[in-house]
Amino acid sequence: MEAKSSVLLVLSLCSVLFTFGGLASQASHNGKWKLLKKSIGISAMHMALLPNDKVIVFDRTDAGPSNLTLPQKRCGKDEICYAHSVEFNPGNRNFRPLTISTDTWCSSGALSRNGELIQTGGYGLGERVVRHFKPCVNCDWKEDQNGLNVPRWYASNQVLPDGRVVIVGGRFQFNYEFVPKSKIYSLPFLEETRYSAFVPNNLYPFVHLAPNGNLFIFANDRAILLDYVNNVVVKRFPVLPGGVSRNYPSTGSSALLPISLVGQKSSGTNFPAEAEVLVCGGTVADANVKTDAGVFVPASKTCGRLIITSKHPRWEVEEMPINRVMGDMIMLPTGDVLIINGAAKGTAGWGVAREPVLNPVLYKPWNKKPSRFEVLTPTTIPRLYHSTAHLLSDGRVLVGGSNPNANYNFTALYPTELSLEAFSPPYLNPLSKSRPVISSVKPGLELRYVQKFYVGFRLNYETDKIYVTMVAPSFTTHSFAMNQRLLVLDMGHVRKSKKPAGSKYNHYYTVESYAPARPELAPPGYYLLFVVCDGVPSRGMWVRI
Ligand SMILES: *[C@@H]1O[C@H](CO)[C@@H](O)[C@H](O)[C@H]1NC(C)=O
Ligand SMILES: *[C@@H]1O[C@H](CO)[C@@H](O)[C@H](O)[C@H]1NC(C)=O
Repeated sequence: MEAKSSVLLVLSLCSVLFTFGGLASQASHNGKWKLLKKSIGISAMHMALLPNDKVIVFDRTDAGPSNLTLPQKRCGKDEICYAHSVEFNPGNRNFRPLTISTDTWCSSGALSRNGELIQTGGYGLGERVVRHFKPCVNCDWKEDQNGLNVPRWYASNQVLPDGRVVIVGGRFQFNYEFVPKSKIYSLPFLEETRYSAFVPNNLYPFVHLAPNGNLFIFANDRAILLDYVNNVVVKRFPVLPGGVSRNYPSTGSSALLPISLVGQKSSGTNFPAEAEVLVCGGTVADANVKTDAGVFVPASKTCGRLIITSKHPRWEVEEMPINRVMGDMIMLPTGDVLIINGAAKGTAGWGVAREPVLNPVLYKPWNKKPSRFEVLTPTTIPRLYHSTAHLLSDGRVLVGGSNPNANYNFTALYPTELSLEAFSPPYLNPLSKSRPVISSVKPGLELRYVQKFYVGFRLNYETDKIYVTMVAPSFTTHSFAMNQRLLVLDMGHVRKSKKPAGSKYNHYYTVESYAPARPELAPPGYYLLFVVCDGVPSRGMWVRI
């Protein structure tokens, strides 16, 4: 007990020092921040990465004029001539305005199997709209006014094994439906888990696809396993203990931890893959109500971890080094989870959070307790309500947004933030080992389920600590990265090959790898493939399964 609290004391002391910038330069081995753009003209409320490495960013059309105008001929209906979406190129930091004419406020999305961004719902005239963005030169949004059966505001999406997208819930919607549009199915669990109609604490439910094809759905402090095909709740998990609400506006976050396929060769379709879910942060159920009286309750420090495939699942509860509400949980290519953005007090919503948490925290799922957390270098920019984070293919994390105000407001306590930053995790520190470089994927970048394939890479030192991961690009908003998943692939032989004359790399390797066996493990679509050597990932290479 004593040892544990002194560790925590040291960690919180570090965070105090970091917060005041005193150790920022010495701390670069704990990650590094870079301002990519002071302003992209809009606030990054929603972000998605496309297979051409561009990032689609958008906010909402009802928040007043943005700081970015559209070319005259593309002025939208509701808000003449102001853009509310951009395409950002992290490579050269250029961006161009895109046209959205119906409101995307608090909406959801997913990347389709064809690499097209599918965005669903929003507010007002946008609440039943499904929007499509197909990556190509000078493409723009296409809006389908009747894409959804019912309004979806604060819903969550997940790509399914058959390539469809399921959209779960939304404000006053205790049901789910699909894109392409078909029937609507009821889900009373979303009504049962509300704290109250006005402060639901279960919006943007955490939805993860389990390895048996069912949906794990977490809302407030409870979770179920849903057979969405037959509309049957097949399992009710124990309540996450501690009396903390985890979903909007008590906003915590959740990630499906790495699914390991190691040792489970592609032999068949029945092998068991274990899956674990992590839920972190959030706050007590009445935290939002208390802010009416000017009381900003400290956010929760706790995380719950649950093996959702277990016969007798039990939450393992652990503590983060820093309290946090509205933290994003982003899977790094190594399988570690970055917890970033948010505040130490208050809740999500307009002007109701205090004490921005500037330090990201790394969670290492394979370490033993209590050495799973590491406090990282702080940013200088508060990222509160309506902020986002997204893994880039180069292994950095793009961070943007924060608009805890009703409009674009640059004079409020926490002003509307139009900047984009990149956070380089500790593995990109120049002092860590150099990165492996993927040189080939054979027979090609189009994978089939069960397929054996070969990843060729080079390295300037020798190692046997090699693994291969595949990461699904997510759609992030409101502290939840929808559709995020990471698979650790099974490997066969690792062969060393001859160094080509003149190469500055001394070591050439080929890793025999196995694609996931079933779409329940990895729904069809695009993934970033990484080789990780001694904890340092290569740049990601886009593959498609
Ligand atoms: C956005 O536009 C407003 C109004 O023109 C201006 O006052 C403000 O400085 C701009 N902010 C940024 C971050 O560009
Ligand atoms: C910005 O926020 C401040 C503080 O909440 C408020 O007084 C002001 O009216 C807001 N301005 C706009 C333009 O909404």
